[in-house]
Amino acid sequence: MSRYGKIAFTVLIFLICLQLGFSQLPSDQISTMSRVYEMIKNDTGTLFVWNNVTKDSSPCSWKGVFCTPDNSSIIKLSFPLFSISGSEFLPVICQIGTLESLDLSDNSLSSIPAGFITNCGEISGLKLLNFSSNKLVGSLPEFNGFGMLEHLDFSQNSLTGEINSQFIGLDSLKILNLSKNNFNGSVPTNLGKLSLLEELQLSSNKFTGGIPSQIIKYGNLGLIDLSVNKLSGMIPDEFGGLSKLKILILSLNNLSGGIPKSLSNITTLLRFAANQNNFRETIPAGITSYLRSLDLSYNKLSGTIPSDLLAGTNLQSIDLSYNKLEGSIPANISTRLFRLRLGGNSLNGTLPGESMGSLTKLTYLELDNNSLIGSIPPEIGMCTNLALLNLAQNRLTGPLPPSLGKLINLQVLNLQSNNFVGEIPIQITMLHGLQRIKISWNSLNGSIPDLISNLQNLANLDLQGNGLRGSIPNSIGTLDNLLELQLGKNQLSGHIPAMPQNLQIALNLSNNLFEGYIPGTLSRLTSLEVLDLSNNRFSGKIPEFLTKMTTLTQLDLANNQLSGAVPQFGNFVHVDTDGNNDLMNTTRNPPPASQRKRKSVASDAVVAAAAAAAVIAAGLLTMISLLISRRYYRINDEHLNSGEETSQLQVVQEKLLTANSIHRSTIDFSKAMEAVANPSNIFLKSRFSTYYKAVMPSGASYFVKKLNLE
Ligand SMILES: *[C@@H]1O[C@H](CO)[C@@H](O)[C@H](O)[C@H]1NC(C)=O
Ligand SMILES: *[C@@H]1O[C@H](CO)[C@@H](O)[C@H](O)[C@H]1NC(C)=O
Ligand SMILES: *[C@@H]1O[C@H](CO)[C@@H](O)[C@H](O)[C@H]1NC(C)=O
Ligand SMILES: *[C@@H]1O[C@H](CO)[C@@H](O)[C@H](O)[C@H]1NC(C)=O
Ligand SMILES: *[C@@H]1O[C@H](CO)[C@@H](O)[C@H](O)[C@H]1NC(C)=O
Ligand SMILES: *[C@@H]1O[C@H](CO)[C@@H](O)[C@H](O)[C@H]1NC(C)=O
Ligand SMILES: *[C@@H]1O[C@H](CO)[C@@H](O)[C@H](O)[C@H]1NC(C)=O
Ligand SMILES: *[C@@H]1O[C@H](CO)[C@@H](O)[C@H](O)[C@H]1NC(C)=O
Ligand SMILES: *[C@@H]1O[C@H](CO)[C@@H](O)[C@H](O)[C@H]1NC(C)=O
Ligand SMILES: *[C@@H]1O[C@H](CO)[C@@H](O)[C@H](O)[C@H]1NC(C)=O
Ligand SMILES: *[C@@H]1O[C@H](CO)[C@@H](O)[C@H](O)[C@H]1NC(C)=O
Ligand SMILES: *[C@@H]1O[C@H](CO)[C@@H](O)[C@H](O)[C@H]1NC(C)=O
Repeated sequence: MSRYGKIAFTVLIFLICLQLGFSQLPSDQISTMSRVYEMIKNDTGTLFVWNNVTKDSSPCSWKGVFCTPDNSSIIKLSFPLFSISGSEFLPVICQIGTLESLDLSDNSLSSIPAGFITNCGEISGLKLLNFSSNKLVGSLPEFNGFGMLEHLDFSQNSLTGEINSQFIGLDSLKILNLSKNNFNGSVPTNLGKLSLLEELQLSSNKFTGGIPSQIIKYGNLGLIDLSVNKLSGMIPDEFGGLSKLKILILSLNNLSGGIPKSLSNITTLLRFAANQNNFRETIPAGITSYLRSLDLSYNKLSGTIPSDLLAGTNLQSIDLSYNKLEGSIPANISTRLFRLRLGGNSLNGTLPGESMGSLTKLTYLELDNNSLIGSIPPEIGMCTNLALLNLAQNRLTGPLPPSLGKLINLQVLNLQSNNFVGEIPIQITMLHGLQRIKISWNSLNGSIPDLISNLQNLANLDLQGNGLRGSIPNSIGTLDNLLELQLGKNQLSGHIPAMPQNLQIALNLSNNLFEGYIPGTLSRLTSLEVLDLSNNRFSGKIPEFLTKMTTLTQLDLANNQLSGAVPQFGNFVHVDTDGNNDLMNTTRNPPPASQRKRKSVASDAVVAAAAAAAVIAAGLLTMISLLISRRYYRINDEHLNSGEETSQLQVVQEKLLTANSIHRSTIDFSKAMEAVANPSNIFLKSRFSTYYKAVMPSGASYFVKKLNLE
């Protein structure tokens, strides 16, 4: 190039830059956007988002419109939550030939006009289409064109029908999300030509049939989520060949057979969830070599837990609860383990004391409902991160180790239904974060420690069914957060102190050695629903104030030595005064037969409601936990589900809702179901759960948590 040539070239570059600097959108894009402006304005009325800009201003300045840095073309339109319901603007928008990304998520679109497919299909650079959370119905259109489309999101609509050839031409597809629709037929396998697919999200549909082994031809897949469908058959052995797979979620289907050993060949696999299926056979060794999180709960897996299963070096979360596993808990346990759930199996043998000494990250330990024997090893005190310790319903024996007092992060302690002996270790009164203590149905003796009042966060204290003696410490009245106090079936006696004023769920003093008048301090319990004083030696009259406790639904005074007339209680209170020989029946209206009958029908209704709910919510509702109002427990499901480590956790009170537990806590299940059925009761939504507020007949309100299980 000559010298002058060079100068000329430089000038030319300069001119081009100058030109770019002053460039603005081509007139056709301006007029297109001006039409779109009108149409959306027409459609959204008072909710119009572009109210603060005029139609004549540069569209690049409008909310959700993104241009190239020099403003020479529109490349991205992002209109989430724009309140759009009309689809007429869709073909118009496709006249913007430079469009790379179109996000229409969280609107109320109900259809995709044919003109959209024709016009947008021709845009050579269109990479992303997001129609998530709209109101689309009907079947998916055939995607002709769209050769560059990489991300396609139709999740959370009401689309139906089968998926056959709709995506066949999508040569560049990397991410496909069709979750939460009503698609049926078999799992699609025509998903773009080049097998570039990286993420396949098909959860919460009605896909049937087996998992197609052809999926393996999409060797780039990093995520497969087929959860909450109606898939049956086995996991194809070929899945072991998906060498880039990181996440595999098959939960809540009707899959059967065994867990294929070939999965242990996937060195990239971090998370594998296949809970709530019909998997049988033994768990193969080696599958946790690379995994961070494994969930095989609620299946029919049998045999022993492979000795290496808990030892995977990356393993943080493992859930094998509710299977048919037997034998003992393997002693080789990963020190990274954050969550270990083995409840509801037939495991026997002792707790792995030696290994427990090094589980410093363990936060959730749930071994309940097995046949574990021996005592709690003192090494448990080394698991200082434990927030939840559930060893209930086993055959554990011996005294409770004082080292429990080292679990300074403990929030829930469930040790009920074992054979523990000795006294309540005073050390547990140092665990200031404790919210729940259940040590019922053991053989503890001694008295309730005075220092129990240290536990100012305690909401549930259940010590019933032991051999506790002495009187209830006066300090108990200072437990301002206590909602439930279960002291039944002990040998307690003496003065009944003033009870915590916020008691709500129940005060149970039944089957003890209490005597004298029913204490007047009970009148302060203005939120209480269940009061059980039965099977003691209470005497004197039934105090009138009991009739004024408006929240009471159940009052059990049976088998005492009460005398005089039974005062008039409201209709909604179930009062039992049987077995008080000096009580006069005359003034009391016997409860109408129909009401008594309804009571027993109610428990049947509960089961029916549970079954119906399971069907209605397509399995989403299988686990519900009821959270008590007043104190709202913040819950970190996110961490639980991702199995990731975090600090500052709050424990979930997860409990399978059974007819019995509802009955016990007098929560009206049908009311709870009504609440869940009505979106206006939604109190809070998180990614994994929705909270509904339910008001019970007694006026007490509860939060019902619905887990959005994957
Ligand atoms: C706006 O709505 C009116 C009345 O419904 C209609 O006449 C007009 O054509 C609409 N304008 C656009 C741009 O859709
Ligand atoms: C218009 O309002 C949106 C927020 O609704 C804001 O992001 C945008 O900057 C505003 N535009 C102008 C030109 O004020
Ligand atoms: C592009 O348009 C936006 C909004 O109108 C403006 O703020 C920005 O300065 C423009 N950029 C150029 C390079 O003209
Ligand atoms: C689609 O939009 C939703 C909501 O704005 C977002 O969560 C999701 O990640 C988007 N999908 C893709 C593929 O970007
Ligand atoms: C749909 O799934 C894809 C792939 O997993 C993900 O990127 C996208 O965010 C999901 N969309 C929503 C709304 O969650
Ligand atoms: C899928 O659902 C449609 C109705 O939406 C029905 O006509 C069709 O038979 C179903 N296909 C299968 C395989 O169940
Ligand atoms: C689940 O699959 C089994 C066969 O493995 C079949 O017998 C059963 O009917 C299926 N259940 C449902 C609800 O589809
Ligand atoms: C794992 O991969 C190796 C090598 O590709 C292969 O020989 C072996 O059969 C695979 N194992 C399983 C259980 O699929
Ligand atoms: C525990 O498991 C790890 C990883 O599987 C292994 O390397 C180690 O040898 C095992 N230790 C014992 C004592 O079995
Ligand atoms: C544990 O169960 C296995 C198989 O069910 C049995 O063989 C073994 O004797 C049991 N061990 C104990 C200590 O009960
Ligand atoms: C305990 O586990 C068995 C199955 O192993 C189950 O049938 C039972 O309902 C469980 N009990 C509780 C209280 O969860
Ligand atoms: C009171 O009535 C109950 C049945 O309602 C009866 O069993 C009991 O014997 C009666 N007691 C007296 C003292 O009459």
